[in-house]
Amino acid sequence: MSILLRVEGVSKVFGGLRAVDEMDLSVPAGTVFGVIGPNGSGKTTFLGLLSGTHKADGGRITLDGQRIDGLAAHRTVRAGIARTFQTTRLFAGWTLGANIAAAARPRSPPPDDVLALTGLTSRTGQICASLSNAEQRLAMIAVALATRPKLLLLDEPAVGMSPPEAASLSRTIARIRDELGLSVLIVEHNMHLMMNLADRIVVMNAGRKLAEGTPGEIRANPDVIASYLGT
Ligand SMILES: Nc1ncnc2c1ncn2[C@@H]1O[C@H](COP(=O)(O)OP(=O)(O)OP(=O)(O)O)[C@@H](O)[C@H]1O
Ligand SMILES: [Mg+2]
Repeated sequence: MSILLRVEGVSKVFGGLRAVDEMDLSVPAGTVFGVIGPNGSGKTTFLGLLSGTHKADGGRITLDGQRIDGLAAHRTVRAGIARTFQTTRLFAGWTLGANIAAAARPRSPPPDDVLALTGLTSRTGQICASLSNAEQRLAMIAVALATRPKLLLLDEPAVGMSPPEAASLSRTIARIRDELGLSVLIVEHNMHLMMNLADRIVVMNAGRKLAEGTPGEIRANPDVIASYLGT
């Protein structure tokens, strides 16, 4: 399987704190890769390094063979990485359609497939502030997909969702992998969702990679149980 994203020895220091400390990761094309770990373990900072909102203090990141560390965020989007945020970030007073149009690439196909995948086709004309929490979270994904990325980064997409909403989100993410052929890197504290959805999982602790493997391997790893999953 070809590697889409390659991260080698990447670090981010805030003052004296090594928020991300020598991370290595290889994400194959067409897979869902989960990132888990305790609060403050560096997950969001790691996504920020991949999406160009943080500049790395060391290491290298390549997407499809192209070096992307050091690129500004808008250039990272052009290179093929799109992300959503832990808190909703949409133009709340705009319609969903206007939000998507603002994100869409010139000359790219109309985002009908993206709206259909996220189940939001009937909501296109609605002001984003009037959408439910779950719909706003899906809308962030639709906006990210409208940039036609190769890699989609999701930061806690299931926050505030009911179990049926989270199950539906999980099916949507699987279809993004299977029908659009994207790779997805997802940070999520919902272990039920993560264990059922992710092809592989990396565990972060204090900025470092504690473990990596299939969901079954992660669930059985004594270090992971001690630091995060509990007994
Ligand atoms: N812009 C910043 N300036 C200084 N310190 C920061 C900054 N962003 C994050 N940190 C610190 O870096 C560490 C990692 O934070 P990060 O937000 O990446 O963790 P996280 O794993 O996403 O946590 P959570 O599960 O709570 O979202 C924390 O100690 C945090 O306080
Ligand atoms: Mg976070």
